[in-house]
Amino acid sequence: MARIIKLFDTTLRDGEQSPGASMTTPEKVRIAKQLEKLGVDIIEAGFAIASGGDFAAISQISEIVTNSIVCSLARATAKDIERAAEALKNAKKKRIHTFIATSPIHMEYKLKMKPNDVIARATSAVKLAKSLVDDVEFSCEDATRSETAFLKEIIAAAIEAGAGTINIPDTVGYAIPFDYQRFVGEIVDFVGDKATVSVHCHNDLGLASANSLAAILGGANQVECTINGLGERAGNASLEEIAMTLRVRKDLFGGADTRINAKEIYASSRLLAETCGIEPQPNKAIVGKNAFAHESGIHQDGVLKRRETYEIMSAEDIGLDRNRLTLGKLSGSHAFRQKLKELGFEPSEEEFARAFDRFKELADRKKTVYDEDIRSLLTSESANVPAEFTLVNMQLTDCSGGVPFSTVTIRKANGEEITDAAIGGGTIDAVFKAIDRVCGFSGQLLDYKVDAVSEGKDALARVLVKVVFDDEKPAVMGHGLDVDTMKASAEAYVGSLNSYLAMKDALRKVDRTSI
Ligand code: KIV
Ligand code: ZN
Repeated sequence: MARIIKLFDTTLRDGEQSPGASMTTPEKVRIAKQLEKLGVDIIEAGFAIASGGDFAAISQISEIVTNSIVCSLARATAKDIERAAEALKNAKKKRIHTFIATSPIHMEYKLKMKPNDVIARATSAVKLAKSLVDDVEFSCEDATRSETAFLKEIIAAAIEAGAGTINIPDTVGYAIPFDYQRFVGEIVDFVGDKATVSVHCHNDLGLASANSLAAILGGANQVECTINGLGERAGNASLEEIAMTLRVRKDLFGGADTRINAKEIYASSRLLAETCGIEPQPNKAIVGKNAFAHESGIHQDGVLKRRETYEIMSAEDIGLDRNRLTLGKLSGSHAFRQKLKELGFEPSEEEFARAFDRFKELADRKKTVYDEDIRSLLTSESANVPAEFTLVNMQLTDCSGGVPFSTVTIRKANGEEITDAAIGGGTIDAVFKAIDRVCGFSGQLLDYKVDAVSEGKDALARVLVKVVFDDEKPAVMGHGLDVDTMKASAEAYVGSLNSYLAMKDALRKVDRTSI
């Protein structure tokens, strides 16, 4: 029987800690559904005490996920652990993941605690967590810079207190594969069958996936990772790289495998990239835009003669089917429904009707509607954030050397339509100021990105904005999609305002101290 490596996905927790990656609760719920479809064993849905938004996301994900274990992070304190348990209340399968730093530098300068007090704190945290849920994971933060003898002491205490999983993270991305394999091997031998040993690698030296794979060779049976390698600083180990390496190099891993349905990898990667607006670099392994593109004539010739000459896996293996049919304005609802199914979307009837209307509108303005257009169209629907404001119309007057002037009409949730106008320092500024005037808010634009979804002059423009409203930190994001870049920009800005209003209270971070 194959050795199954559990995949613990932390896209919604560590991934979200990536600068600029914040997601709304409905967006997190949608990603969690996709992660379950992908087949991850554990979904770390957030850090319950960190904010009302995290708490809401964990609670809602707990309601809808049935196969995967839902997990919340908690520092080794009673208030964190109780909050995590409360958020996970309705989960079918739940886990509390509690952690404390174990390296001399963290204990002395960050925690300002003596090693024995750290052990005592870890023990009482695990005991409390175990009294609230059956499944408890304990992490020794900064394990790779910790003293092995001390690690063994704290691990033994955590297991004794009830931890079923012991995680030894490479928090600062310091490990080197051959050495990490040896280190993990020593911990695995020490733990024996009393707990599952997990690893959690960061990518500061570009080695996160290599280290995770080395750890599997060292005996770790759980790997913590994120889609697209999203995460703090240089990111976390990438789920797709680990899962596909185990499949492609079965020969070297003694048949160790994950439960991942690899055909969902591409859909998961796209959903995340479009949701948080962070594209994987084009040459990113497995999911980058160029991962299956062959430029050189010699390679193209080889691939045409026999694909395996230059490809060690196929695009289809990860669910990227390059031969799919495109749609156009004559395509009906049946073809559209079929396409959504192929792309892995399962909208409700109401969502389908809305998406089909948008598709028809798009197909009228764009000759060919590509898969990527449809994917973006469904993702850009603001993941069910209640729309307080809807953009009805937008006009822009701009001529070289003149002052840009924009008029917008917005419909409020009560049906009332308001029109107003503004001038601005540039075209985008004029549009956003006009929206501010109509809606009665004042946004500060922190980031603005535009890219073309597919090919051709009539390509859809995908706009992402990051805005702070009324000086309330942190920022919220908004997405817009249209063949007209200015209209997409206006839609994105209105979307960010709707997100802000929906999450206003939840956005305030509660507590960010170390312990
Ligand atoms: O990198 C890290 O050490 C973490 C822990 C909380 C597991 O994210
Ligand atoms: Zn981490």
